[in-house]
Amino acid sequence: MASDFGKKVKITIFGQSHSEAIGVVIDGLPVGEEIDLDAVQKFMERRAPGRNAYSTSRKEADLPRVVSGLFEGKTCGAPICAIIENTNTRSKDYDKLKDLPRPGHADFTAWVKYGGYNDHRGGGHFSGRLTAPLCFAGAVCKQILERKGIHVGAHILSIKGVKDIPFDAVEINAETLKAVAEKAFPVQNDVAGEEMQAAITAAKGKGDSVGGIVECAITGLPVGVGEPMFDGLESVLAQAIFAIPAVKGVEFGAGFAVAELFGSENNDDFIYNEDGTVKTKTNNHGGSLGGISSGMPLVFRAAFKPTPSISMEQDTISISKRENDRLAVTGRHDPCIVPRAVPVVEAAAAVAILDLLCRM
Ligand SMILES: Cc1cc2nc3c(=O)[nH]c(=O)nc-3n(C[C@H](O)[C@H](O)[C@H](O)COP(=O)(O)O)c2cc1C
Repeated sequence: MASDFGKKVKITIFGQSHSEAIGVVIDGLPVGEEIDLDAVQKFMERRAPGRNAYSTSRKEADLPRVVSGLFEGKTCGAPICAIIENTNTRSKDYDKLKDLPRPGHADFTAWVKYGGYNDHRGGGHFSGRLTAPLCFAGAVCKQILERKGIHVGAHILSIKGVKDIPFDAVEINAETLKAVAEKAFPVQNDVAGEEMQAAITAAKGKGDSVGGIVECAITGLPVGVGEPMFDGLESVLAQAIFAIPAVKGVEFGAGFAVAELFGSENNDDFIYNEDGTVKTKTNNHGGSLGGISSGMPLVFRAAFKPTPSISMEQDTISISKRENDRLAVTGRHDPCIVPRAVPVVEAAAAVAILDLLCRM
């Protein structure tokens, strides 16, 4: 399985939802970087399950144990390896899913690809749980980026059509990103946030689930980050973001809306700042021109589908009987992935950006 990412800063994610542990190996980090493990833990808590009514009740401490790569609190050149124990597994919940694949989940495709040898419990290696080690890696990369004045932050832009105020793609700054990250429900408009939570609760009440959009911004990127063609900013970021389970769309800047604009509307006019640096008046390009950072905030959005596991009955197949069947998923599941996915998007973006930065 290719569960690795990156060319200079490389991460490999291992484990399954119900294996003894999950974890990550991070290689190629700049050396001598102090890593505040308390801050890493705090970041991971933003993703951890079982903390509110609209996330799965599978409560996991998500305590990473760092077994290598740090010496006297600093990166030492050896790969960092962090292990997170799986302590709250209820594998029995998944017995029938070995035969009845969940619509919308990876059960069917993984069963075919791995000839039935895949660990189906809790979604195995395809579980959202694997985003815990991604968050560890992202938290480490974020600290290194912040020391260089580069800040990554995200918020919930929408859930089931209820919309938050979008980031201002020109003016967005580190303070705004930090303020929204500190919220239990990360939105700019708390009234919209309450409506979103009501939409999640209503779906949960019907045994259903809902999806939404996470918007992410990266500030402080110097001009010139990103390689030509396949390793451009958008290409590398999209690869990292699409690795997050349940992401079905990624758009940069004005995104799909560019298709409706005239060139004169879409082009972002250049101007000199008072300090002699170059900026653009608008930011439809989302901070990337030719796959290379323009010095403007990098802004992108990721669309998350509704959680596949729902208790409402659906059509599926019985693999053993080779006939059509019905399935109502029991067990513990997020009725909406989006709130817990916000730090995951930040983490994937931070890993991708540090990798590109270290290639310069
Ligand atoms: C943070 C997070 C939590 C998730 N929790 C669940 C869950 O409780 N139940 C579920 O069916 N899917 C959950 N997912 C989504 C599935 O892992 C995902 O839909 C599945 O692996 C299929 O991959 P795909 O949707 O990218 O095709 C979660 C995803 C993330 C990012």
